[in-house]
Amino acid sequence: MDRQEIIEKTELFVKQILSKDSTGHDWWHIHRVRNLAKRIAREEGADIFIVELAALLHDIGDYKFFQGDEETGAVKVREWLSSLEIPPLFIDKIVEITSKISFMHTLPAKGERSNKKNFPIPTLSKELMAVTDADRLDAMGAIGIARAFTYGGFFNRPIYDPAIKPSKSITKEEYKITEAPSINHFYEKLLKLKDMMHTKLGRKMAKRRHRFLNLFLKQFFKEWKGKM
Ligand code: ADP
Ligand code: NI
Repeated sequence: MDRQEIIEKTELFVKQILSKDSTGHDWWHIHRVRNLAKRIAREEGADIFIVELAALLHDIGDYKFFQGDEETGAVKVREWLSSLEIPPLFIDKIVEITSKISFMHTLPAKGERSNKKNFPIPTLSKELMAVTDADRLDAMGAIGIARAFTYGGFFNRPIYDPAIKPSKSITKEEYKITEAPSINHFYEKLLKLKDMMHTKLGRKMAKRRHRFLNLFLKQFFKEWKGKM
């Protein structure tokens, strides 16, 4: 099987799994992340084949689909890749990316102190950096806003409730089970992403998307108070 065939087969496999998703993990999220990750990868000199496969598979094993289980995802990704003719070293690299990409992993566990140490470790591979930045960029800006409310709606979360304050130092456990309004997610995740980019292009794009998130919030609260 040549590389193009492997990519096409994987694309079909992913499309089939995610076609009915309404939590913000739909096929078009994968499509955007894949394109952006490839663009970043080219600038960083990362391996495009690994980046493209990892981007395609990055949400297949999301713990949210497996009642919070974080291991099942890696098994599913490995199973799929093993069914294709891909060298084991490549498989390991791709599984590493899909297992480490999650924002949740950067949060402190219960009882752990939240500090800079919990943020990305500098020894990440170029491929992991490209896919992670692309995935995080898709949670920011206009698209990120649309996705946050889609997710919130799917899980019956209110848009906003002034009585429920965002958690300043949310832990991994709290993040997994939160039922807070969607606006809180901006403070618990989306506004933090700008400072969590690994690549030059990622940082540049995140800056602009971050600005748009702030603009939206400003307008949102003006309208909430009936000022505008
Ligand atoms: P990804 O897998 O793309 O990194 P997630 O799995 O964390 O993203 O979530 C999918 C989308 O839903 C993202 O855009 C994310 O910001 C959003 N989302 C996740 N948790 C919440 C939440 N509690 N409230 C609102 N939006 C959320
Ligand atoms: Ni994603």
